Parts: sequence; structure tokens; C-alpha cells
Amino acid sequence: MTLERSDFSNKTVLVTGAGQGIGAAIAKIFASRGANVAINDVNKTVADETVKEIASFGGTSKFFRADVTDESQINAMVKSIIDAFGSLDILVNNAGILGTSKTDELTVENWDRTLSINLKGAFICCKAALAEMKKKKYGKIINISSLAGESGGIVVAADYSASKAGLLALTKKLALEVAEFNINVNAIAPGTTKTPMIDAISDEENSKLVSRIPLKRLGEPEDIAYATCFLASQEASYITGTTLDVNGGLLMR
Ligand SMILES: NC(=O)c1ccc[n+]([C@@H]2O[C@H](COP(=O)([O-])OP(=O)(O)OC[C@H]3O[C@@H](n4cnc5c(N)ncnc54)[C@H](O)[C@@H]3O)[C@@H](O)[C@H]2O)c1
Repeated sequence: MTLERSDFSNKTVLVTGAGQGIGAAIAKIFASRGANVAINDVNKTVADETVKEIASFGGTSKFFRADVTDESQINAMVKSIIDAFGSLDILVNNAGILGTSKTDELTVENWDRTLSINLKGAFICCKAALAEMKKKKYGKIINISSLAGESGGIVVAADYSASKAGLLALTKKLALEVAEFNINVNAIAPGTTKTPMIDAISDEENSKLVSRIPLKRLGEPEDIAYATCFLASQEASYITGTTLDVNGGLLMR
């Protein structure tokens, strides 16, 4: 095996939901390491900001508006990314929404919406990216799941936890199917991380949580972004079908 340090020059990365929070941090770190980054989001205003920040340090990125739940939009987006950058090597399924209703108050509509964005969206993006990855016999897929998908979660709702647990099963099944094409599929399970998503959680809940976290802080988006870069790197080429916990020690498996 040749020893080489990874950088991501000549690699194209698609990050879904990259306009803010964890997705924006992932996009910025890949861009700072030489990748061409496709910034996907449904929100143009926040996505434009990510593209601007990447340009400010000389990185390369481009915004692709598409809703991850819409297969025709995602297929068209993947084609546009390949037209723009020449390939698609790394897919980060990050787009997601939070639910916090108690199960007996959770509507079927909200259940469907959460499962659709958090789980079906990742399936659609994987499916769209696989043709290019199989053709090149190279690919890295990283699914941003959650500690809630492993433990059930604390303040989050059943729709959210179920969607994130489903993502872990999708990760394993797909990893098995595509290993022969030199495609690695892994998941990351972040604990509570400081992004706009957790605005819905009270400061009091967060302080209670911090007191239970062995490392005594919430996650930063960059904590998740560095772990994502590792799983996409040459250094992680023998890792597939696994879940990397990034949670300050809150859940040790
Ligand atoms: N923040 C946390 O505590 C935490 C913990 C564990 C896991 N996660 C997961 O990390 C991922 C990112 O979370 P975040 O905290 O950065 O969230 P966030 O709400 O700050 O950002 C999510 C982004 O996804 C985009 N998005 C939503 N629906 C979309 C769709 N249908 N198509 C395309 N883009 C869409 C939003 O516009 C937004 O820019 C999510 O999957 C989330 O479940 C977050």
C-alpha cells in the first residue's frame, strides 16, 4: 500500500443542505483542501453565503438548488455538477430537518415530511450519484445520521430518530452492495451540535445536556466536518459500512 496524504484536489464533492450549519462547515473544509464543492440547498440566500465564504479564501464552489426529496431535480442536479466540474467523487448526505413533537401529538404529515427529507432524500441522492461512481470505480458516500438514530434521542421526536436509524441501515446495506466498485459508504452520528437546527431547543435543555457530556461542551459544526473529511480520505479507504460517533463521549458503544 502506498502511503500518501490526502488532499481533495481534482475531487468533486456534493454536500446537500450546505447553506448553513454542519453542511456549510463540511463544504468549507473540503474547499479549503482543494475540492470542487457543489453546494446544494433549497434556500438560495444561505447557500449564496457559503459560496461567498468559500470564494473569500480562494476555494471553488457553485450553488445547485434542488430539493432532495424530488428525484427529477436531484438527477438534473447531478448531471449539472458533472457538466460543471467533470465528475462526482464524494457525496455527503447532510440535508435534514428536526422534529420535536411527542409521538401522540406528531401528525402523519410531519412524520412523512421528516422521513422524506432525512431518509428518502439520502436514498435519492445515493441513487443519482452511483452511476458516475460505479463507472469510475471510485466513490465515497457519507450519511449524516444522528446519535438519536442510535439511542432514540433526548428532545427529538420519533420521526427524526426513526429517519436517522433508517439512514444507518441504508448505510450498511449500500456499503455491502457497492464495495466491489471501490465505493465506501459510511455514516456519522453527531451529538447535539451548535447550528440553527438546535434553535428549537431551549438553553436550559442544552445546559442540562452539556452537564452529561463527558467532554463538557456541545459539538461545533467543524467537529462533524473534520470527521466527514476523514471518512472521505485515502486514510479511511479500508472503512466501510460503519458509523462514526462524534458526540463528546455522550454515547459510548
Ligand atoms: N445540529 C445538531 O445538533 C445535529 C445533531 C445530529 C445530527 N444532525 C444532522 O446534521 C445535518 C445538518 O444539520 P444542521 O444542524 O446543520 O441543520 P440546519 O437546519 O442548520 O441546516 C440544514 C440545511 O438543510 C437544508 N435543507 C432542508 N431541507 C432540504 C431539502 N429538502 N433539500 C435540500 N436542502 C434542504 C436547509 O435549508 C438547511 O440549510 C442534518 O441531517 C441533521 O439531522 C444535526
